[in-house]
Amino acid sequence: MALSDFVSQLDQLIADAKNAFEEVGDIASLEETRVEFLGAKNGRLKAAQKLMGTVDKADKPTAGKKFNEVKQTIEAAFQSKKELLGDPAAAKKSGATFDPTLPGVKFRLGRLHPITQTIEELKDIMGRLGFSVADGPEIEDDWHNFEALNIPHEHPARDPLDNFYLGTANANTGGDKPLLLRSQTSTVQIRVMESTPPPIRIISLGRVYRPDTADATHYPMFHQMEGLLIDRSVTMADLKSVLRLFAVSYLGGDVSIRFRPSFFPFTEPSVEADYFWNDTWVEFGGAGMVDPNVLRAVGYDPEEVTGFAFGLGVERLCMRRHGITDIREFYKNDVRFLEQF
Ligand code: PHE
Repeated sequence: MALSDFVSQLDQLIADAKNAFEEVGDIASLEETRVEFLGAKNGRLKAAQKLMGTVDKADKPTAGKKFNEVKQTIEAAFQSKKELLGDPAAAKKSGATFDPTLPGVKFRLGRLHPITQTIEELKDIMGRLGFSVADGPEIEDDWHNFEALNIPHEHPARDPLDNFYLGTANANTGGDKPLLLRSQTSTVQIRVMESTPPPIRIISLGRVYRPDTADATHYPMFHQMEGLLIDRSVTMADLKSVLRLFAVSYLGGDVSIRFRPSFFPFTEPSVEADYFWNDTWVEFGGAGMVDPNVLRAVGYDPEEVTGFAFGLGVERLCMRRHGITDIREFYKNDVRFLEQF
């Protein structure tokens, strides 16, 4: 046999073998293909080796060299396919096998917003102090947001610059009873007392709206926790105890409370409550003894019952607890921020 014929047969053999190993998709057909080409008895490489005997003597060294190259190439094709099928990651790619030891696909779990989490926790703490949860609408009328809370018509708290009035109604005329986005959760005090006889022990958590320019500590929408307790002979001492127990539960450790004199139309006396935590006094919120005018507005007898009320900023509590320094972070909906909670 002429050397050139032998070489072209070998080239054909290499091409066939490469194709065949390429197409192999599982261990069983890999073995079949191995036998076809590399089989010791009837493999095509073996046949080629036999043919080499017929090549002219002078060309034998060249033919032998070529044969060895071909043998190595085919064996390499077999080896690399074998590794590929044996390697789980490669096997997955070809869809050939299923490897149960592979790590699973990671789920991205959703979670509650930090403010929602805080609200749930506050409900839990206050629930243990015997307060149940009441709710009220975010769109309020003049009566619940102002009038019944002892905020008369000429009071500056009604200023259109400080409230989100809905429609064109003028807040100060009173005649056309404007609607507005509630500016405080104290509205819920009125709603609860109107519909329930004393004693009362509720909290109400929800959104309030004020036209403030957003900065690190202000946002035109934020959340408050309102508390209201009405019973016979309730005193400021009860208010202080409740706020202190609340602060101890939420912030942990021995938190002290102090009252500073303040003014709210719906409480008398009124205070600003602060708590002492991490070596500083921090503003808690407003509080006080429910004004007799408010009790009368809802049909209670101020000679029979008294009570206290308080209103705390939820964002502020959450920020303190987690060391958040900018309230706007809560409402950017940046997952990198939110997923930390
Ligand atoms: N409503 C008051 C505010 O928004 C807080 C407050 C609630 C004060 C209850 C006294 C009693 O600032």
